[in-house]
Amino acid sequence: MLTLCRASDVPADEPLQVVLDDGHALAVYRWNDGFYCTDDLCSHGEASLAEGYVENGQIFCPFHMGSFCISTGEPRAAPCSVPIRAYKVTEQDGELRIER
Ligand code: FES
Repeated sequence: MLTLCRASDVPADEPLQVVLDDGHALAVYRWNDGFYCTDDLCSHGEASLAEGYVENGQIFCPFHMGSFCISTGEPRAAPCSVPIRAYKVTEQDGELRIER
């Protein structure tokens, strides 16, 4: 298990970017009282999804407004067509963790 951050670090209204020790960037989301995590890099271009916004369980990319499901990483709106990786988040003692 890999610790991402404290649950309280994730704002209610915007994603949080977490950069791992190896430089890999993730986007962490709080939505509907749950926590979700995907790769931060959009599969359509060099955009940080953590700079986008979440609506209806989707992360909307700040560049071209394509979207992905934050739970599965599946593309939901064009121009995104290639899935991103999604990670199962568990919360323990106030910390958010993923398996990688
Ligand atoms: S770079 Fe994300 S939709 Fe184009």
